[in-house]
Amino acid sequence: MLSDSTFSVSQIRTHFPILNQLVNEFPLIYLDNAATTQKPISVIEAVSRYYLNDNANVHRASHQLSNRATCAFEAAREKVKNFINAADSKEIIWTKGTTESINLLANVLAPQLTKGDEIIISALEHHANIVPWQMLAERIGIVLKVIPLTDNSTLDIDAYKLLLSDKTKLVAVAHISNALGVINPVKEIIKLAHQTGAQVLIDGAQAVAHQRVDVQELDCDYYVFSGHKLFGPTGIGVLYGKQHLLELLPPWQGGGEMIKSVSFEHTTYNDLPFKFEAGTPNIAGVIGLAAAVDFINSYDRQDFLKHEQCLLAFTERALAQMPEIKLFCAGVEKSGAVSFAVKGEHPTDIAMLLDAQGIAVRSGSHCAMPLMKALNCSGTVRVSFSIYNTIAEAQRFIEALKNVVQMLQE
Ligand code: ALA
Repeated sequence: MLSDSTFSVSQIRTHFPILNQLVNEFPLIYLDNAATTQKPISVIEAVSRYYLNDNANVHRASHQLSNRATCAFEAAREKVKNFINAADSKEIIWTKGTTESINLLANVLAPQLTKGDEIIISALEHHANIVPWQMLAERIGIVLKVIPLTDNSTLDIDAYKLLLSDKTKLVAVAHISNALGVINPVKEIIKLAHQTGAQVLIDGAQAVAHQRVDVQELDCDYYVFSGHKLFGPTGIGVLYGKQHLLELLPPWQGGGEMIKSVSFEHTTYNDLPFKFEAGTPNIAGVIGLAAAVDFINSYDRQDFLKHEQCLLAFTERALAQMPEIKLFCAGVEKSGAVSFAVKGEHPTDIAMLLDAQGIAVRSGSHCAMPLMKALNCSGTVRVSFSIYNTIAEAQRFIEALKNVVQMLQE
């Protein structure tokens, strides 16, 4: 038996009708879940129900529709707070997604930083957790330090210890690498940073869909993620921050909602979380994200994890047996994704030939060009799984890949 999961993948798949289609005359096999997950019917219906029945702006009116929209919007905040075990719903700030959450933080942290202060990131970060800090470095002269990789492409924790000093103000690292699927030892990273007095931001974009995240247990200062990688809509994401830290930060964007009072002489700002939520928010996105959290909560997350690990283990094992394949981070603990190259072939050619057989994978640098440089490659082919993928799909992917390799190397 390939899987000992107790939950039924075929039952899960009934929630995702998009999966039942032919692509290039083959049944679709969607293995690009690290880029975005598919949406269950309950999420799609929650968004359309809101537009069909309740559409109104939030926090602004005393009429029925606005009250209903506001109640759903704030109930969603409470739901997400429970989902990541934040201490208070004031700690949940709605953003457009992970990228906006990090940009928000980079901007509001700026007044606390001075020239020469250091921020530590890692060699396997997504561009979203590199460029905002580089922009800040250009603006105020902070120094960016990078945790290098060990020989098996995991973070070099000994080197990290040497980078930490009393100049370190923030450590910003991914929970799980989007390009390689490698799980970083974030608990240890956080503990070490706190010992030197630095704050820690964890980019959880790839983690929230694959494991239970408990921000209080992690003790991270900030945690960011996107709804669309979690079966929710695009354009909605979360910045979690410890309340006492968020209280100290100035607002980012100015406008409605983020103020208490405005006059031409003086403006006072709203309390958390609204201080960081200028303008009309993505109400439908928030409601859709709450439905995605409900969907996940209706299952045992251990079952999800076991099933995904089974898909990953099967695929890694099969790839390792192909002499033409270079597997990145072989044998290292991963979640959700595995990356590889076909010796002598361009990753995009592989992805296009797989697509011709209905198989969707991602190829390229995965928004992690510095990582590709460290790995000494121009890009990889990434296969990323979700709960609705089956072992039969993983098997068909391996067969299709074998055909592609044979065809290219004949
Ligand atoms: N960050 C997303 C990915 O890794 C888009 O594919």
